[in-house]
Amino acid sequence: MTSVVLSDFNDCAAQYNQHAEVQREAAAWLAEWLPDSIHSPALELGAGTGLFTHHLAKRVKHLEATDFAPQMVRLGAAAFPNVRWTVAEAQSPPPLGPYAGIFSCSLVQWLPTPAETFRHWHQISAPGARLIAGWFVQGTLDDFFEICPEATPFVWKTADTWLSLLEQNGWRVLRHEVRHFVRHYPHATTMLRAIHNVGAVVPHRLGTVRLRQVLRAYDQKHSQQGRVASTFAFLRVEAETHS
Ligand SMILES: C[S@@+](CC[C@H](N)C(=O)[O-])C[C@H]1O[C@@H](n2cnc3c(N)ncnc32)[C@H](O)[C@@H]1O
Repeated sequence: MTSVVLSDFNDCAAQYNQHAEVQREAAAWLAEWLPDSIHSPALELGAGTGLFTHHLAKRVKHLEATDFAPQMVRLGAAAFPNVRWTVAEAQSPPPLGPYAGIFSCSLVQWLPTPAETFRHWHQISAPGARLIAGWFVQGTLDDFFEICPEATPFVWKTADTWLSLLEQNGWRVLRHEVRHFVRHYPHATTMLRAIHNVGAVVPHRLGTVRLRQVLRAYDQKHSQQGRVASTFAFLRVEAETHS
């Protein structure tokens, strides 16, 4: 699973910025919760090409940006040369802490072992460190997965489940909020292509016949005034380390 996800993200790195409309909007929404000045050192996980790094870099002196896809890191480093970039799994980031702040945007839903990862982030954080992160939760692309459940890349969790996982693994949630981002496309094929191009939802196991059937069913069921819609549910969280 991880190697498939890694190669998908690596392969889509060059076109990520062009297609990552929802992620860019989500990054701006999450950035509303960033303080004007962030204590150093700070760590960003799953930084990709730097859509959220853009908001962090101007607020913090020492930022370590990481991603497990080397092509993402290459592009991020070219765009933000003043940030230190490293290829690293979010589950085992560089041990340069203790970090005063941990940040990530549109990553956490992909974590294979989120409970262990949250605990690890807690272990590498300084006392009183902040976690400011946002990610996609249950409610994302529901209409599509209802028609094609086998395309789901992982089991989606509700916002409440995620908040409990944080609380059980070293983090006290200070505030949280869910926002729904809705996108419109001419038809299901363009919708799926847009999602595929940002590395999310790659229906590897679907054959061509099944894919055509799914897209036709989606268009028939959800087309309104010549467009189909898809919804992305995004949770933003600010938490601090439990002492
Ligand atoms: C949807 S992109 C978000 C990128 C960026 N943070 C943004 O807001 O646009 C998810 C990123 O997480 C990375 N990623 C996914 N799973 C990861 C993991 N287990 N460890 C590190 N990076 C991971 C991918 O390579 C990709 O760059």
